[in-house]
Amino acid sequence: MSIIAIDDERVGERLLSIEQIAQRVKELGQQIGNDYRGRDLVLIGVLTGSVVFLSDLIRSIPGNLEVDFVAAASYGAVTHSSGVVRILKDLSHPILSKDALIVEDIVDTGLTLAYLIDRVASHQPASLATCVLLNKSARRRVPVDLNYVGFELPDRFVVGYGLDYAGRYRNLPSIHVYNLEESSGIECRRPSAD
Ligand code: PRP
Repeated sequence: MSIIAIDDERVGERLLSIEQIAQRVKELGQQIGNDYRGRDLVLIGVLTGSVVFLSDLIRSIPGNLEVDFVAAASYGAVTHSSGVVRILKDLSHPILSKDALIVEDIVDTGLTLAYLIDRVASHQPASLATCVLLNKSARRRVPVDLNYVGFELPDRFVVGYGLDYAGRYRNLPSIHVYNLEESSGIECRRPSAD
């Protein structure tokens, strides 16, 4: 039973349990550990949504690794991604000749990750790959190469395990549908449908 009390009836059906997430993260960590054995690996978390996933993932990867963070924002109308992404925080350390792995909580339109792939590539890593916990492929607007994917997700707005609605619910340990249609009018940039 969760220790977190939710007083918002819009937090609905649980799509992924704590156990399902933990099992998949462990599998991803082992796979990444095998693929990068003996390499100079840097995991690059995308703030803020990836922090819960990243913190579990790094503890599932055997071997040495480093961690850095980037942050990006899409701006324009708040209910729709404008397609314009800008960097809010770039890498803190050089990754020249290292193997970079961008870690995201979710890929929706793909605009954020496509932009960050180009941005991180400009730092000239030895290799560049992506690891995403949740893939909403039905929502894609630009193609992005995903190397490690946790789960394919239906076109539903979700919260928990790092994912938020208006800044809340990142601390839910499992992943739930958030029923936007019952929303009280607070707008959000990642709607379940256009
Ligand atoms: C979310 C998520 C991705 C992006 C995916 O971030 O963490 O970075 O949206 O959407 P896209 O594929 O349509 O670009 P958000 O902007 O909600 O910020 P957050 O990580 O701080 O929650």
